[in-house]
Amino acid sequence: MVMGSNEAPNSFLPLSVVKSSAWWQLLCGALMRIDILCLFPEMFVSPFSHSIVKRAEDNGFVKVVTHNIRDYTHDRHGTADDYPYGGGAGMVLKPEPIFEACEDIGQLTGVGNIPTILLTPQGRPFTQRIAAELAAQPQLMFICGHYEGVDERVAEHIVTDELSIGDYVLTGGEIAAMVVVDSVVRLIPGVLGSDESAADDSHSEGLLEYPQYTRPEQFREWSVPPILLSGNHGEIAAWRRRQSLLRTALRRPDLLDKLTLTDKELAWISDSLSSQR
Ligand SMILES: C[S@@+](CC[C@H](N)C(=O)[O-])C[C@H]1O[C@@H](n2cnc3c(N)ncnc32)[C@H](O)[C@@H]1O
Repeated sequence: MVMGSNEAPNSFLPLSVVKSSAWWQLLCGALMRIDILCLFPEMFVSPFSHSIVKRAEDNGFVKVVTHNIRDYTHDRHGTADDYPYGGGAGMVLKPEPIFEACEDIGQLTGVGNIPTILLTPQGRPFTQRIAAELAAQPQLMFICGHYEGVDERVAEHIVTDELSIGDYVLTGGEIAAMVVVDSVVRLIPGVLGSDESAADDSHSEGLLEYPQYTRPEQFREWSVPPILLSGNHGEIAAWRRRQSLLRTALRRPDLLDKLTLTDKELAWISDSLSSQR
């Protein structure tokens, strides 16, 4: 569940209550707090009310709090944006409400230097490695831009990192923040069960994941690769590794350049690629 800054939790399941209570969090020391500043906090409600993020919140691993930047404005219209100096199209988010919100959150949580991430198409490209680094932090703050973006003084004086989720332009930073938060939360130790470990996921070790199959064994005229039915775990692991290598070589050869592979693996990739030509 995503909490607005002034809302009380709406889950009354006994276990959830116990696990999200302050003493439980102190006891397990695993709670991460994520604050998100944006113009449309309601956008986060549905995406974070299901699946892993919801379960992580219910089990006390993370608390996500959204804040409406307009709540930190002081005129009766809640003006959070203004015309760009120098002219040009569109509006720019004003610095004052964002600075006030960040200072307020810092005071509220008693944390002075919260890693503060601006979502922007100009940021460094977000990757699984960055997700893993962020998952080790006790607290994170995200600032979502809108319109033409955010007054540069926010980036210069509050923001500690700028992340882009890809080389394209979204309408606002909310969807980008959802993407980053989702991928970070699933990497918080304990959030995924052992049967849904992220270790083999694409990009975890620099490779794409091997192909996956489930029942039925025979679907139409297509059958599951026999090795997966063999019960030989060593052979299955070796097959999966080779499939990962091949798939990465075919789809994302740029990823292979960053890895140190054995001579045997390199030879196998080369043979497989030439036999496919
Ligand atoms: C319409 S965009 C502004 C783009 C800005 N004028 C520029 O050219 O860099 C509005 C907001 O959406 C968010 N946004 C857009 N594309 C994004 C991306 N690829 N990654 C992360 N955030 C993005 C940012 O928060 C941005 O301030």
